[in-house]
Order: sequence, then structure tokens, then C-alpha cells
Amino acid sequence: RIAGPCGLVLFGVTGDLSRKKVMPAIYDLANRGLLPPGFSLVGFARREWADQDFAQIVHDSVKAHARTEFREEVWQQLAEGIRFVQGDFDDDAAFDRLRRTIEELDEERGTGGNHAFYLAIPPGFFGAVVDQLKEHGLAEERDGSWRRVVVEKPFGHDLESARELNSILDRVFPSGSVFRIDHYLGKETVQNILAMRFANELFEPIWNANYVDHVQITMAEDIGIGGRAGYYDGIGAARDVIQNHLLQLMSLVAMEEPVSFDAESLRFEKQKVLSSVVLPHRLDLTTARGQYAPGWAGGEKVNGFLEEEGIKKASTTETYAAVTLHVDTRRWAGVPFYLRTGKRLGRRVTEVAIVFKRAPHLPFTETATEELTQNALVIRVQPDEGMTIRFGSKVPGTAMEIRDVNMDFVYGGSFVESSPEAYERLILDVLLGDPPLFPRHEEVELSWKILDPILEHWARKGKPEPYPSGTWGPESADKMLARDGRVWRRP
Ligand code: BG6
Repeated sequence: RIAGPCGLVLFGVTGDLSRKKVMPAIYDLANRGLLPPGFSLVGFARREWADQDFAQIVHDSVKAHARTEFREEVWQQLAEGIRFVQGDFDDDAAFDRLRRTIEELDEERGTGGNHAFYLAIPPGFFGAVVDQLKEHGLAEERDGSWRRVVVEKPFGHDLESARELNSILDRVFPSGSVFRIDHYLGKETVQNILAMRFANELFEPIWNANYVDHVQITMAEDIGIGGRAGYYDGIGAARDVIQNHLLQLMSLVAMEEPVSFDAESLRFEKQKVLSSVVLPHRLDLTTARGQYAPGWAGGEKVNGFLEEEGIKKASTTETYAAVTLHVDTRRWAGVPFYLRTGKRLGRRVTEVAIVFKRAPHLPFTETATEELTQNALVIRVQPDEGMTIRFGSKVPGTAMEIRDVNMDFVYGGSFVESSPEAYERLILDVLLGDPPLFPRHEEVELSWKILDPILEHWARKGKPEPYPSGTWGPESADKMLARDGRVWRRP
């Protein structure tokens, strides 16, 4: 899988996303030999830069964040295709310059008229940019060439705004040319959920309400909001992570086997899951939200959310969110899916835990199974990528005593191949025109449909519950599970 002749135009070149993810991923792809030799990268921004200044920015970001080794000859080849176009989003002359730059690159580097426009900018500007692309003939595909647009979340802040964003993109690009990035789908371990479920006979027979007690999906981070106050305040954990990453993870866990792994079939099955989600009636008892207070992280004292730079003192933005969802299908009837995410929690970990019912009968004394809990299959998305199966085993000795043990699959122990960074995989897919790993607009809207009532409920409640940094979130989250007779895992 090597991309054919093409280029990428990057909007929002000074942002974190471009510097930490997009630029390094492009270099890594080049370094792995997956980009065409004439690949071009055009930066578009307001700064008064020359091509060399932008190339220097890319160079620095590659040096700081690329995953693969820096090789001068790879860099030189990439740098020859780097251009910069200075301008504002409402500046017609700038978009004319962009068109000329692209035409020159097609001539000089043989990019063949194939260009992806990567909008690493706030969604409020999507409309202005795509309209300009259209007006200046940049969105038009000619003589078998392609034009694609790449967008990043947030895809709106509720259902209505998501619909609006989608219609903005739709009026310029056909749906097959719009690539919405959810970087979790680019993660190796997330894709492995499909391999694990559908390439094996072992798991699928028990992957249903007859055997599964409940599912816990956790994305915990130990970091705070860092320098992202501007983006995060007012958005919060549910919009930032549950609407996209966690609902996508849930769809992969809960979906039926797709007819094939092409985009149509895969997205269709995910969409079926999302459209069968129902919320419990009592949102006050089945959801929880919190905000980190001062506490500890990595052995150091850290500020609470309200003391972070750029955060309004009376902010009611949640930095922790937990929700209970039901997938109303025969397979999942009565099985709760608990989704939680938070910043400044005990440690960084993303995992999916399928927790099974207890054996219907235990032919042992009560004391023999005192330490036996429920069987579980845990997919560790990150770090320590792998999978663990927890089951009961006899403790060596003369008495019958049964205790939980773990059987572990660790990527490093089984594979010598290293996993590409999520952005590498996804950017390559954009350039190849390979859409299965990109959520389509129906999925985005369905996700908001699930979240909107919860967000409205929280908005009526006012302040989230504080939790000390370095702990596992607010008490209400523990109570939420305790009411169902369950406990959160402590990964
Ligand atoms: C992003 C969120 O989508 O994912 C961030 O906006 C979060 O708030 C990040 O920190 C985490 O990504 P990863 O790949 O490190 O789990």
C-alpha cells in the first residue's frame, strides 16, 4: 500500500495537531517509503513566511515528534516539495495563489492534480475554507484526478451543529471525498478488536447477553488540560472523547459481523449499533461527571482545573464523564455498557473490559471461591498494548482454593513489527482513498443523538463534582456502578 502521485494542503499549520501529529506522520510515511517521490506539502496560514520558513517548522516538528529515525536524504526529498501560501481564509487572492501553487506542483513534481485538504482548524472556519476551495476551483476533480477534504473533531457540539457542519462539507465535496478523522480508529489495537472477534472461533459464541454481564470502556489520562484551555473549556470530557473515541470503540465491540471490511459494510454495522443505543430513564443515577481538583500527578502537586491558565473561575466544564448505555438488540439485551473518561486520573490507560457472568453453579465450598471474581477479557488499547483473560484457577496446595489469574497477550512478546502511529495509518488511507476507518456523517450525528440528552441533563445540574487529581474520579461514578452491584476496574 503505497500512495500514488499526490499532495497535501495543510490549514492550521501552527496548531498543536499539525506540529505534533500531522507533520511527523507525513515524514514517517515518507521514511517508510509509503509516499510517492514527488509528494508535496503546502502550508496555508496568515503568517508572513517564505517556503523555507514553513519547511523549517516542519523540520522542527519532525525532529521533535517523528517516530522513525531522522534520515537526511528522506528529509531533503520531502523538503523539496514543501511550499507555503500566505493568506486569510477570506482572502480571495490567497486562494488564487494556492491554486497556482498546486498547478505548479503538478507540473514540477508530478502530483497529478491529486490533493487532500487537511483542515486542522477550528470547525467554525470549515465553511469559509471549503467555500473558498469551491469558488477557486480547488475542490473540482478533473481528468481522473482526485480532491479530498480531511476534518478533525469536534464535529459540532450537539446534533444540530453537527448537521450544520456536515451540510457545509456536503455542499462542496461528495460524501466519498470527506474524511473525518477519529484517531482512535487508526490505532493498531482498536483495529485488532475486529480481528480478534471475527478471525477466531473462541470469543464470538460467548459475545452476547447470555454470557456477558457488562462491558466497561475506559479512557483514563493522567495529564490535565495542559495548554488547551481555549479548546477544552465549554467542551468537556463527554464531547471531547465519549462522542467520538468511546462510542466508536463501543460500536466495534457491539457490532455484528460485517459482510466484508469495505467502508460500506463496516460503517453500516457500526451505524446499526449506534442507532440501537438507548439511555436509562434516570440520568441522575446512571451518569456521573466530575472536575479535577488540586492533587497529585507523577509525584508532584498539581493545580485543579479551575486554577489552570485560561479557565474561567466558575467553569462548569467536566473533566470526567461516565455514562451507562444499553444496546437494544437481541445480542445485548440487558447488558449495560459503562463508558468513562477523565483527565488527571490515577494513570494513563485505555481499555475495553468484557466482564462475564459468574458460573451458574459453583461445586465448591464457599471459602474455596471467596477470592474468585468474574471472568473478564480485557483489550488493552494503550499503553502495554495487548489482551488479558482473567479466569479462576486452583491455588497450588493441598486444599481446594480458587483465585483469579491472568493470561496475557502482549504485542511486544508476539510481534517484531512495530505499530504505526494512528495518524500515519489514517493519512495514508486518505491519500489512498481508503475510507473504512473514517466515521461517516450518519455515525457522527447518531453519536450526538445519544449524547445530547445527557449533556442537557448535566447543563441543568450546574457544577460537576470535584475529585482530587490522581484519583479515579468522583464518588458519584463509583456509586453509579455500586447501584448496579458492580465496581469499576482499577487498571
Ligand atoms: C484527543 C482528545 O482526541 O485524544 C484529547 O481531544 C486527548 O483530550 C487525546 O488527550 C488522547 O489521545 P491518545 O491517543 O493519547 O489516547
